[in-house]
Amino acid sequence: MGSGQQLYMKAKAIIPGGTQLLSKRPEMFLPDQWPSYYSRAKGVEVWDLDGNKYIDMSYNGVGSCILGAADPDVDAAVKEVIEAGSMSTLNAPEEVELAELLCESHLWAEMVRYARCGGEAMAIAVRIARAKTRRDRVAFCGYHGWHDWYLAANLADDSALDGHLLPGLAPAGVPRGLLGTALPFRYNHLEELKAIASQHRNDLAAIVMEPIRDHDPDPGFLEQVREIASATGAVLILDEITAGFRMITGGAHLLYGMKPDMAVFAKAISNGYPMAAIIGKADVMQAAQLSFISSTYWTERIGPAAALATIRKHKRCDVAKHLVRIGTLVQESWREAARQAGREIEIGGIPPLGHFAFPGGEKQAAKTLFIQMMLERGFLASTAFYATYAHQEYHVRSYRDAFQEVFAQVINALEQETVMKQLKGPVAHAGFGRLT
Ligand SMILES: Cc1ncc(COP(=O)(O)O)c(C=O)c1O
Repeated sequence: MGSGQQLYMKAKAIIPGGTQLLSKRPEMFLPDQWPSYYSRAKGVEVWDLDGNKYIDMSYNGVGSCILGAADPDVDAAVKEVIEAGSMSTLNAPEEVELAELLCESHLWAEMVRYARCGGEAMAIAVRIARAKTRRDRVAFCGYHGWHDWYLAANLADDSALDGHLLPGLAPAGVPRGLLGTALPFRYNHLEELKAIASQHRNDLAAIVMEPIRDHDPDPGFLEQVREIASATGAVLILDEITAGFRMITGGAHLLYGMKPDMAVFAKAISNGYPMAAIIGKADVMQAAQLSFISSTYWTERIGPAAALATIRKHKRCDVAKHLVRIGTLVQESWREAARQAGREIEIGGIPPLGHFAFPGGEKQAAKTLFIQMMLERGFLASTAFYATYAHQEYHVRSYRDAFQEVFAQVINALEQETVMKQLKGPVAHAGFGRLT
């Protein structure tokens, strides 16, 4: 057993759930075998605790290392503010510079607030929308973090039915009084949003969604969402935490000419350093002053310095173009491997954030075997790929060769029903699961 697995066993005894993020749990990849911890990360290279080196062709800091790990320009800017003092009784001037930069690139926005994490920034946006409208209900589509406003969607009249709308996200601990305040609709299913809007038109505080993630918007979908928000007086909040800065320097909504009332950025803007921004129209943002929204570490200096350096480099180097190109090449290599194996695979996601699924009913076991075989070939890989500026074509080429070989072997194992026999540990968990 590697040092990482040994440490993880210790972690599970002292940290409930083992890690702080569901998507980083080793059980989500390769139970009992995943390297689990890193000693060093640079660009797309990651070293585990035993000194083994891997190329990260998976999540790259779960989407937070858009330029690659330990980017020299961002790290230089961070080191500068560490030297100058990263915290003080006075405020960090970078906050104002960053607000100007964000408003310059999103011309509909006039004011900015900050936080450090995505979920908390979304909670702030929803609080501001509720303060502005003096209403309670929120219509939403997609994933937006762990806070009460969102997990309330998984409360049911009968507690035995809790959790049915968003599978795997358990709402234990969320006050039952929030039942009926978070109302889900599916992307491109305008009729579902319309039904919510007509039932709650006088009590809809916000419509919350990602502008794009898995599917392109149907013609007119985004425009009609905007119209429904305006007609009901609900605040339109776009969650750009993951989709932003992948296809353009700024929110993905800029590609569609969409004008929300607020947009929220987090992990794509600061290359691995905690930072989040809520931008919005002045009349909406001013409602922040009607409520109490305040936290000490929202004032530290590393986050805004990292964001300024990341966004400037993003623009200077046309990082979005690179992410789309690399992501497209990776998706092509998936398609090509499937074609060679004579199989159809489902591929989804915008090019910089692509994912695929193995064919057939044994998807999870097949995925686990795939991860195991890719790890043996020196890749951190899963069924999703988040591109970074540090990925080069030669990384994709060596990944493609390994992928073709492994994909064919997994398909063969599925056909011969030998997947379980070839696995050296248990099958990966599919979603939230209480760890024992
Ligand atoms: C669209 C979206 N919203 C919100 C979040 C939550 O962000 P965080 O994990 O920083 O709290 C995520 C994280 O994956 C996300 O993808």
